[in-house]
Amino acid sequence: MVTVIIGCQWGDEGKGKMVDFMSQDADMVVRVQGGANAGHTIVSGGQQYILHLIPSGILNPKTTCVIGHGVVIDPKVVVEEIALLKSLGVSVEGRLKISNRAHLVMPYHKVLDRLKEEAASAATGSKIGTTGRGIGPAYMDKAARTGVRVVDLLKPEQLKKKILENIAFVNKVLEGVFNAPEIEAQAIMDEYLAYDKELDSYITDTGALVNQAIRDGKKIVIEGAQGALLDVDLGTYPYVTSSNTTAAGAATGSGIGPSKIDKVIGIVKAYTTRVGGGPMPTELLGETGENIRQVGKEFGATTGRPRRCGWFDAVVVRFACEASGVDELVITKLDVLDQMPSLKICSGYRYEGELQKYFPADLDILSGAEPVYEEMPGWQAPTTDIKEFSALPAGAQNYLNRLEILVGVPIKLVSVGADRMQTIHK
Ligand code: GDP
Ligand code: IMO
Ligand code: MG
Repeated sequence: MVTVIIGCQWGDEGKGKMVDFMSQDADMVVRVQGGANAGHTIVSGGQQYILHLIPSGILNPKTTCVIGHGVVIDPKVVVEEIALLKSLGVSVEGRLKISNRAHLVMPYHKVLDRLKEEAASAATGSKIGTTGRGIGPAYMDKAARTGVRVVDLLKPEQLKKKILENIAFVNKVLEGVFNAPEIEAQAIMDEYLAYDKELDSYITDTGALVNQAIRDGKKIVIEGAQGALLDVDLGTYPYVTSSNTTAAGAATGSGIGPSKIDKVIGIVKAYTTRVGGGPMPTELLGETGENIRQVGKEFGATTGRPRRCGWFDAVVVRFACEASGVDELVITKLDVLDQMPSLKICSGYRYEGELQKYFPADLDILSGAEPVYEEMPGWQAPTTDIKEFSALPAGAQNYLNRLEILVGVPIKLVSVGADRMQTIHK
C-alpha cells in the first residue's frame, strides 16, 4: 500500500506532523523531492524535532526512512541531522537509506543561490525569496547533466574530477557575471571526500528497495516537501521551487511507477500561508494577518522568516487537489482560528469584472485578482483538547464542512495542535 502525502498550498501545511502521525505503523517513509529547503516539524512527547532531509517517519523505530533520488541532498545537513537525532535518543542505524542516484547540493550551489537573489533584488527590487539552500542551482546542474551524485562519493577520483570541472565553470560565472571572489576547490574536495566515510553505510539503490517493499506488500508513505503552488510546472512560476511538488513527483523521485500509488492525501492549513515572494490573493496585511501569524507561530522552520498569512483560498486548494488527484484532505491548524469572531473563505477571484473559479497561469491576473469571499461566524471556543469531530463546536464543524464542499474532496483528519495526539478523525 503506497500513500502519498503532499502539501496543497504554498508549503508548511503541517506535512511533518501528519507524516509522523500516519506512519506510526508504516514500514517505510520516502522523501522524493526538494532538499534542505524543507523544514518539517514533529512534536512528540513534548519534544520538537525539525527535519530538513531525513523523513518524518524516523521517530517510529520500526520504520525504514529513505531519501530518494529526486531529492537534492546537502550531505552536511544529513550528517548534522543524524547527530541531532542521536543526541535526542533516536538512532537511524540500519533504518536510514540514501539513494545512490540522488544529486548533491554543493557549497557553490548555495553561493550561486545567494548571489542570484542579491542580483535580482538589486536589478528589479524583487527576488524569489528562496531559502538560500542552493536548491535552484543544484537542480540546474542536474538538468544540465553536470551534477555530482551520491554515487560519486564512493569513487574519490571521479568525485575530484567532477568537482574540479564544476568549480572551473562556476568560477568563470562568479567572476564574469557576479564580480564575486573565486571559490577554492581543495577545501570542497576535502569536505566531500570525507562524507564517504560518514554516509557510506546508508547509501544504496533506494529505487530497488522501495519496489521490493511494494512487492512484499509493505506499508509505504511518501512524504512530499513544499506545496503544490511551489511546483516548478504548476505553481506560481517563477515564484516556485525547482522540483515537482505535486503527486507526480512521488513517482519520479522514488523510482516507482505511478500505477503503484494507492492513495494521495493532501495536507492543507485551515487558512493560507506563504513564505517568500510572489502573489497570494488572500494575504492579510493588517491586524488579522498578524494575529494569525502570532497565534499560529507562523515563522519559517528553515529560515525563521515570518510567513505571510491569509484566509483559506479554495481556488488554490481545488487546483492543487486536481493536479495531484488528491483522494482525501487533512486540515491542520484549525485551533489557530479558535478565537476569530468571523472567518472568510475565498471561493473565486474577480478579475476585470469577471468571476474566475480556476487558478490562472498569468501572474498579472493573479496579482490583480480580487478574492470573492464567503463569510462565516467563528466559534470562539478552544478545540485543542477535542478528540472527536462531533465534539467540535458547531461553528468549526460548519467551517470544515464548507471547505470540503468548496474543494470537492472529503476531509479525513483534522489537526488541532502540533502534537501527534492532537488529531481528530472525521
Ligand atoms: P511542513 O513543512 O508542512 O512539515 O510544516 P512546518 O513544520 O514547516 O510548519 C507547520 C507548523 O505548525 C509546525 O510548527 C508544526 O509544529 C505546527 N503544527 C502542525 N499542525 C498543527 C496544528 O494542528 N495546530 C497548531 N497550532 N500547530 C500545528
Ligand atoms: P516545506 O517542505 C514553504 C519557498 C521559498 C521560496 C521558494 C523557492 O517545509 O513545506 P527554494 O529555496 O526552494 O529555491 O525557494 O519556495 N519554499 C518553501 N516555502 N515551505 C517549504 O518547504 C519551502 N521550500 C521552499 O520560501 O519562496
Ligand atoms: Mg515547513
